[in-house]
Amino acid sequence: MTIFIKNANVLNGQGELKATHVWVEDGKIARIFPADQAAEEIIRELANGAELTEIDGTGKLLTPGLIDMHVHLREPGFEHKETIASGTEAAAKGGYTTIACMPNTKPVTDKPEVVELILDKAAQANGVKVLPYAAITYNELGRELTDFAALKAAGAVGFTDDGVGVQNAQMMKDAMRLAASIDMPVIAHCEDDSLVVGAAVTDGEFARKHGLKGIPNESEAIHVGRDILLAEATGVHYHVCHVSTEQSIRLIRLAKSIGINVTAEVCPHHLILSDEDIPGMDANWKMNPPLRSPRDVEACIAALEDGTLDIIVTDHAPHSAEEKAKGMELAPFGITGFETAFPLLYTKFVKTGRWSLELLVQRMTADPARVFRLDSGRLETGAPADLTLIDLDSERAVDPATFASKGKNTPFTGWKLQGWPTMTIVGGQIVWSEKTITTSA
Ligand code: DOR
Ligand code: ZN
Ligand code: ZN
Repeated sequence: MTIFIKNANVLNGQGELKATHVWVEDGKIARIFPADQAAEEIIRELANGAELTEIDGTGKLLTPGLIDMHVHLREPGFEHKETIASGTEAAAKGGYTTIACMPNTKPVTDKPEVVELILDKAAQANGVKVLPYAAITYNELGRELTDFAALKAAGAVGFTDDGVGVQNAQMMKDAMRLAASIDMPVIAHCEDDSLVVGAAVTDGEFARKHGLKGIPNESEAIHVGRDILLAEATGVHYHVCHVSTEQSIRLIRLAKSIGINVTAEVCPHHLILSDEDIPGMDANWKMNPPLRSPRDVEACIAALEDGTLDIIVTDHAPHSAEEKAKGMELAPFGITGFETAFPLLYTKFVKTGRWSLELLVQRMTADPARVFRLDSGRLETGAPADLTLIDLDSERAVDPATFASKGKNTPFTGWKLQGWPTMTIVGGQIVWSEKTITTSA
C-alpha cells in the first residue's frame, strides 16, 4: 500500500506546526515535503501509475503513532473482558500503533507458549504492534522466577508481575540480576501487601467521608525505594509502573539524579483525577493504584513535565459490566484507557495552556520509544510508517457505548473533549479510520 498524506500539520521539532505532505511506501516514511510543494507534482513524480491512497490531512495533526507500554488485553483466559482482537481495535481507535500487554492473563504469561500464543493472536488482529511482557514469577505468586532467557527468546520485551507487587526483596534482586544479564528491563507494580488492608480507595478524604479503609501512599513508595536500591546494586533497567504518589516521585527524582537506571510511567487518570473527584461508591472510579490526593496529582503533573516521569501509559484495564456492578468494595480494580487518553490529556493540559502539544506528543511517542528502545516514535524519512492523524478541533462527549473495547468501565463518561484520532497507520497500513478510505490507481 502506498499512502500520500497531504497537507497535515506536523510538529517540526521546535514546537511549531508545519503543513506537510508525507509519502508512505513499503511500510516506511519514504519522503516528507513542505506543503507549499504542489501535491499533484509530487504524485506525478513518485506514483509511477501505482495504486495510491490519498489522505487529506488538512487541518489535522499528524504525529508518530502513539505508544502505550502498559495495557491489559486479557487474552488468554479473560475473553469476556477483552480479547487481543477487541483490544487492538480499541488501541487503533485511540491512535495507538504499539502496545505492550501485561502478563496477568489465565494462564499467566509465564511460559514461552503463552508469549507465542499472544503473538499469534496479535498477528491475526488488525496490525497494531503487540509487545508481550512476561511474568517475573510463575503465576505471579512471588515464589519462583520464570525462565527469563526462554521467555525473551519467545518474544517477551520485559518482565513484570503487574497486578501485584513482588513482596520478597531477595526475589526481586534475583530477578533484576537475571534480567540485567540478558539485557532486559524489569517493570514493577509497586505495592507492599503488608501496608494494604483490603481497601478500594486511597487513604484520604474519600475514605474518611465514607468510613472506608484506605490504601496508603507508602505502600507504593516503599517498593519504589527498595527497588531503586536493588536496581543500583544490579545495574538493571528498572521501570516503575503507574506512579501515583509524591513520595515515589521524590525517590525516582533522587535515583535519576545519581545516575541509577530508572524510568517511570504515569496514567492519565492519575494526572487528571484525585480522590476528591470520586462522586460516590461507583466502581468505575476504582483502580490500582487508586486516585490519590490533589497534592499527589500536582506532583505527578510536575514530574511528567520535568521528565522525572518519562512516559504516559493508560493501564487499559477492561472489566465486564457485571464485574464492575459489584460495587466499590467488591469490584475488580481498573478502568479502560485507549479510547480516551489522548483527548483527555489534550483537552486538560494542552487546550488549557499548561503543556505544549510537543510535550504531550513526546511523552506518548518518542519517550516510550527511547525508554524501551523501540524503532518507532519518530516522524522521519526512513522511520517505520506508524502514524496517527488527529482532529484537534471537533468536540465530542465520551460515550462508552461507542468504544471498540469490550470494557466500558470509565470514570470519564460524558466528558466533552477535543483531540480525537481520525486515522491510525501501522507499518504503512491503515489499521483504523473514522471514515471509509478509497484507493485510486
Ligand atoms: O487497576 C488495575 N487493574 N491495576 C492493576 O494493577 C491491575 C489491573 C487489572 O489487571 O485489572
Ligand atoms: Zn499494576
Ligand atoms: Zn496494569
